[in-house]
Amino acid sequence: TTIHRADYRPPDWLVPEIALEFDLAPAATRVRATLSVTRNGAHDRPLRLDGDALTPLSVTVDGAPVSWEMDGGDLVLALGGDAHSITTEVELSPETNTQLMGLYASGGLLCTQCEAEGFRRITFFPDRPDVLARYSVRMTADKARFPILLANGDPVGSGNLDDGRHWAEWNDPFPKPSYLFALVAGDLVANRSTFVTRSGREVQLGIWVRAADLPKTDHALQALETSMRWDEQVYGREYDLDVFNIVAVDDFNFGAMENKGLNIFNSRYILADPDTATDYDYDGIAAVVAHEYFHNWSGNRVTCRDWFQLSLKEGFTVYRDQSFSADQGSPAVKRIEDVRGLRAAQFPEDAGPLAHPIRPDSYMEISNFYTATIYNKGAEVIRMMATLLGAQKFRAGTDLYFDRFDGTAATCEDFVASMEEAGDTDLSQFRRWYSQAGTPRVTASISHEQGSGRALLTLAQAVPPTPGQPDKAPMVLPLKLRLFGSETGAPLGPERLVVLSDARAEVVFEGVSERPLLSINRGFSAPVIVETDRSAADLAFLSAHDDDPFARYEAMQQLMLDTLVAAVATGRGDHAAVIAAVKNTLTDAKLDHAFIAEAVLLPSESFVGDQMGVVDPDAIFRAREALRRDLGQRLESEWRAAYDATRAGAFAYTPAAKGDRRLKTVALGYIAAGGASDAAHLAFRQFEAADNMTDRQGALVTLTSGTSDERVAALDIFYNRYADNPLVLDKWFQVQALSSRDDALAAVEELARHKDFTLANPNRARALVGAFGVNQRAFHDLSGRGYRFLADQLIALDKLNPQTAAKLLPPLGRWKRFDVARAALMKAELHRILATPGLSKDMFEQASKSLD
Ligand code: ARG
Ligand code: ZN
Repeated sequence: TTIHRADYRPPDWLVPEIALEFDLAPAATRVRATLSVTRNGAHDRPLRLDGDALTPLSVTVDGAPVSWEMDGGDLVLALGGDAHSITTEVELSPETNTQLMGLYASGGLLCTQCEAEGFRRITFFPDRPDVLARYSVRMTADKARFPILLANGDPVGSGNLDDGRHWAEWNDPFPKPSYLFALVAGDLVANRSTFVTRSGREVQLGIWVRAADLPKTDHALQALETSMRWDEQVYGREYDLDVFNIVAVDDFNFGAMENKGLNIFNSRYILADPDTATDYDYDGIAAVVAHEYFHNWSGNRVTCRDWFQLSLKEGFTVYRDQSFSADQGSPAVKRIEDVRGLRAAQFPEDAGPLAHPIRPDSYMEISNFYTATIYNKGAEVIRMMATLLGAQKFRAGTDLYFDRFDGTAATCEDFVASMEEAGDTDLSQFRRWYSQAGTPRVTASISHEQGSGRALLTLAQAVPPTPGQPDKAPMVLPLKLRLFGSETGAPLGPERLVVLSDARAEVVFEGVSERPLLSINRGFSAPVIVETDRSAADLAFLSAHDDDPFARYEAMQQLMLDTLVAAVATGRGDHAAVIAAVKNTLTDAKLDHAFIAEAVLLPSESFVGDQMGVVDPDAIFRAREALRRDLGQRLESEWRAAYDATRAGAFAYTPAAKGDRRLKTVALGYIAAGGASDAAHLAFRQFEAADNMTDRQGALVTLTSGTSDERVAALDIFYNRYADNPLVLDKWFQVQALSSRDDALAAVEELARHKDFTLANPNRARALVGAFGVNQRAFHDLSGRGYRFLADQLIALDKLNPQTAAKLLPPLGRWKRFDVARAALMKAELHRILATPGLSKDMFEQASKSLD
C-alpha cells in the first residue's frame, strides 16, 4: 500500500507520557509500557497503537484487564472518555532480530534503532513523529553481562538486585517522538570529558565502546567537543541535558542515529587510529559525529510532522555538517568532495526510476527514502537559500525557525516560511525545489562585441521529466558567475550572482575588453548540470586562471569529461589538452596538495557513463585507461616529483599532511598506470613502510588493480595483519570489489564464499556487494553474471535485513541507460527478485518501481 503526503491527518490520540520497563535478556526481553493517552479533538475513533511482530501478553486500561482487537500488527482499543492509562506487556527476542530495527543484539550488546518505524517492534505505540511523549525508562539486566545500562535523557537512579541482576532508571525531560527512543545494555567503557556550554551548563560526555576499542575514541570525542562549540558560535544552539552519550555498535543499518542524549553509531564512524583508519575515515567520523550532534536542534528540538518532511531535518543537518567540516579544513576541497558525492549518488537517482523530490508525495516503505536526494540534494536546497539570503538573513531565518517551532513537529513549509519572513525574501517560486524531481539542465553561451566592450550571456534552463512528473516549470537557480580574459587571464569585473528563474534569460556585461571566458556555477552555487560551448583550450586556460578553486577544478573536470566522451565516440582520444592542464596544475607551487590531488583525478567511469545516451562500460573503461596511461607516461617525472615531495615526519592528522598523503597516492596511481617497471615495487614499499592506513590502503588499491606478484603478497599480508579487525577487513573486501582487473567479477563471486564474508553484518555486505554494484565494468559484464550475482545476494539478504538489501538494489534499476542486451538481462533479474516468495515491502517497492 502506498502512503500519500496529501492524506496527512493529525493524530487521533496523544501520548503526553510513557513509562517503559525492560527486563533485558538476549533471548527473551519483557517490555512493559504504560502510556497516558488523551483524545485529540472531538471524534469517536478508537485508539490504534502500531505494532510490528508483537504479541500482547496483557493489556490493561486504567488498571483493569480488557479485551483487545488486532488489526494486522496493530493493537486497537475502543475507549470512552478522553484520558486513560494503558499498559501493555510484550516479549521480544533481540538475539534473533536480524533486521537490526527495534531492540537487537550486536557483539554482546543489546541496543536499539527506531528511526523511522522501529519503535513499533519494541512496544505498541502511535509510532509517528508528531506524537511527542515524555519518556521514563527502567531497565533490569544481568549485571555481569550488562554492567552498563544507558537510555535517553538523564540518569535518575540505579541499584543492585539480589539475583545478580541490577537496574537503572533514566528520564528524558524533553518530549520526543518514538523514533528518538534508545537504550543500550552491555559491557562498555567510556572515554569521558566535560563540556561547559556558553551559558555555563556542565555536560558529561561519554563515548562508549568495548574496552579494547577505548584507544580509538579520542578523535570522535574531540570532534564532539568541536561540534558543540561550533553550533553555539555559528547557529547560537546550545546543548540542553546534563549528559551526552555516544555508543559504537558493529551491526548497524546506516551511519548513526541521533537519539536524544544517546546517539548510537556504526562503529566505523567512531573508531580510529592511524594504523586502522584512513584520513577519509577520520573526516567521516568528524562529519557524522557533528551531524548527529547537530540533530539535537535540527531534528530533536524541532522534529518532523510526518516522514514526507524528512529532508526538513536531514537536508538541513547535512548542510550544517558540511559547513562544519568546511570550517575545520579546506573549504574548497570539502566542496569538491561533496559535489563529487552528489554527482556519484544523487544525479543518477534523479535521472532514474527512483527519482523523487526532496519532499516526496508518496512512499510504500519510508526506509527507502533515506536517499541522496533527501539528504544531499536537500542540503543543496538549504545552501541555495543561504546564498540567496546572505549569511545574516539566513541566520535570522534559522533563529526564527528554531524559536518558533521548538518543541513541535514541523514541516518543510515551516522552514521556508521562516526564511521568507526573517530574510524578507520572496521564496514562492523557489519552493519548486521541494516539489519537482530531476536535475535541472542549464545551457550557457556567451558572445562578445570587441567594439562596444559588451558581452551577452544567454542562459536557458530545463528540468527533465521524472516518474509521475512529465512537465516541469522553471526553477530558481542562483548562479555565481565571473568572466576572465582569454588573453590575460585577468578577471573582467567582479563575481556576480545571477538568479535564473525563467526558462531563458540574457545577462549583459559591460567593459569587457578582451574575449571573455565564462566561469559559471562557481562554488557549485546551484545543483544543476551546466552545458557550455567552451572549447578544450578555453577550459584548460580557465583551469589555470580561475580564482575560484571549485571553478578551477570544474574546468579541469569538464575538459577531462569532454575528452573521454569524445574518445569513447571515436575510439581514439586526443589527450594533449588534458595532459597540458594536468601538468600545469601539478607543478603549480601555489596550490595545496589536497586540491591538486582532487583536480588531477579523472572523472569516474560511471560519471562518464552518465553523459552518454547509451552507456558502453567497456569502451569507457578503455578510453579512461588509455588516458590514465598517457598521463602516467607523459608526466612521469612530474608524478615522481610529486610523489617524493611529501613532507617527512611521523603521522599527523593535519590538513597539510592529509594533502600530502592524498597527492602521494594519486601520483602512485598514475606512475603505475603509465606502466613504469618499478611501479609495483614502489607501491609495495609504500605498503610496507606505511605508518598509517591512508598510505597502506592507497598502495593496496594500486596493487590490487595490477598484475604484479606483489599484489597477492600485499593482499595476504593485509588480511593476516587485520584478520581480527572487522572494519579493516571491510576495506580488504571493498578494495577487491572495486578492482579494475579483468577478473574482478570472478574474484567477487569467490569472495562471497570467503569464510569472513557474511550478509548478516551490513558493513560487510556493503563492502562487497555494495562496492561491486558501483564497479561499472565488472558489474555490467556482458555475460549478465554480475547482475545475477547482485540479485542472488539481494534475495538472500532480504530474508535477513530488508532495509539494507533494498538500499543495494538501484544499480540493477538503471537498465534504461544500457544497450538492449544488458537491459534485458537486468530486467530479468528484477523480475526474478519480484517473483521471490516472501519478498519484503522494501524490496518490492524498489524492484517494482525500477521496472516501470
Ligand atoms: N537519522 C539518521 C541520520 O541521518 C539516519 C536514520 C536512517 N534511518 C533509516 N531508516 N534508514 O543521522
Ligand atoms: Zn541525519
